[in-house]
Amino acid sequence: MIVNTARFVISNSDPAKCPSEQKHEYAFIGRSNVGKSSLINMLTGHKDLAKTSSTPGKTMLINHFLINDNWYIVDLPGYGYAKRSKGDRLKLEQIIKSYIASRQQMTNLFLLIDSRHKPQKIDLDFMSWLGENGIPFSIVFTKLDKLSSTAGKRQVEVYCETLLEQWDELPPVFRTSSQDRRGRDAILDYIEEMNKLPLI
Ligand code: GTP
Ligand code: MG
Repeated sequence: MIVNTARFVISNSDPAKCPSEQKHEYAFIGRSNVGKSSLINMLTGHKDLAKTSSTPGKTMLINHFLINDNWYIVDLPGYGYAKRSKGDRLKLEQIIKSYIASRQQMTNLFLLIDSRHKPQKIDLDFMSWLGENGIPFSIVFTKLDKLSSTAGKRQVEVYCETLLEQWDELPPVFRTSSQDRRGRDAILDYIEEMNKLPLI
């Protein structure tokens, strides 16, 4: 798919105030600093569309971006940032979960995992919650440019093996780098296919 236009529409902390149109939506979630905003900029080809930062916790709101006047990308706040107060963390988690659980237009959730790390409980618990709530999701491994190709391959394999201890089958898996743009076509082609499905 070619991204012709990408524009910021609205930021919100209240899922009820997000755009109400019946358009396909693809949200991006994962731990703080995993690379959600960078991936969105890479996919859209607009380097400053979503705000990125080397300091975790940059994205604090639900951000809607309209692509090709036809479908939405949603940048969500990261979860699990240790330096936030417990109260703030719970509040953000509540915003994220209420958005995900209530958004009937959300065709797929991309859950980002930093390819350099071993499987973390916080992500595995989050996936369990997605499963329990019947949320369709895919896994996106990020920052693969930071590993050699052998190490990257191995990290993804180990992660998938861990998932298969808990799940009967794997969700779709994408291997990406926002730096060298790998994985871009695979994700955009996947979205293009999903856009053809009717919204229920
Ligand atoms: P929050 O909004 O705080 O939850 O973070 P985020 O998940 O949106 O992460 P963001 O895109 O802001 O990126 C965090 C840091 O990782 C930035 O310094 C990025 O430049 C860096 N980064 C993101 N993706 C990649 C990647 O694919 N490769 C490399 N080398 N660095 C990356
Ligand atoms: Mg962000």
